[in-house]
Amino acid sequence: MAYSFILFETGDDGVALLTINRPEKLNALNAGVIAELDNALGRAESDEAIRGLILTGAGEKAFVAGADIRELAALSPVEAKVVSARGQALFRRLETLRKPSLAAINGFALGGGLELAMSCTLRVASETARLGQPEVKLGIIAGYGGTQRLPRLVGRGKAMELLLTGEPVDAREAHRIGLVNQVVPGAELIGASRSLLARILANAPVAVSLTMEAVDTGLESGIEQGLRFEAAAFGVSASTGDSREGFAAFLDKRRANFNGR
Ligand code: COA
Repeated sequence: MAYSFILFETGDDGVALLTINRPEKLNALNAGVIAELDNALGRAESDEAIRGLILTGAGEKAFVAGADIRELAALSPVEAKVVSARGQALFRRLETLRKPSLAAINGFALGGGLELAMSCTLRVASETARLGQPEVKLGIIAGYGGTQRLPRLVGRGKAMELLLTGEPVDAREAHRIGLVNQVVPGAELIGASRSLLARILANAPVAVSLTMEAVDTGLESGIEQGLRFEAAAFGVSASTGDSREGFAAFLDKRRANFNGR
């Protein structure tokens, strides 16, 4: 698939950089962006050389300023339900990719933009970023998972405040409430994102992937099932070649060399 709305670049460090590239519309998510993101995630899923993903927005101003309001305005209720379900499925695919993903938030992350960022494993924001769920100001509700992921990230009270006032928070407040992991100057955003992801990718890939799955299993289905999953996944991790390498490297006082087996 040739892309018109996104850029998809891969490097030898195992990181794919995915840029939403509609800067003249502040990278708003139209149907074309959604379809291309879905295709790119398919590539990220199936390509073993891709071990992690960074998502960002083109231009200085916005990560993603939301779903495309011009498109939304033309939808019937039934079509709007389909659009919401399609966006939810895409973001769920990203969330459950089992390869770490990082949103490099270079400006406005509003509505679907914040929902996209929250579907990533981690978030790094530039100092000028502004994050929010302004849907209620348009007479709609968050429809790409915002009502579910925001309370899981920042707690019910703060999520209610953001979702019900529709007012954005700046990067510093987003960091304070746990909505983003780091805040850096704009010029350092991609470098800082790469370096955080590299620290994760230096660890054993199967252990990283199983950890992500265990955290989400417990959060989504409760502690009993989460603990059962954790024990089973611990058993799997302890049987990998990488765990033998990790133990041996510790005992030999050297750096481990993991190969994902
Ligand atoms: N959908 C469609 N187009 C959008 C958009 C969106 N979510 N967000 C911005 N754009 C477009 C604008 O219509 C404008 O297009 P135009 O030049 O053809 O008129 C262009 O992007 C630039 O945006 P503009 O509003 O002029 O920039 P600004 O700096 O004055 O304001 C924002 C920036 C982010 C505050 C403002 O664009 C905004 O409020 N966007 C909508 C945010 C939102 O409600 N998102 C949730 C959608 S469900």
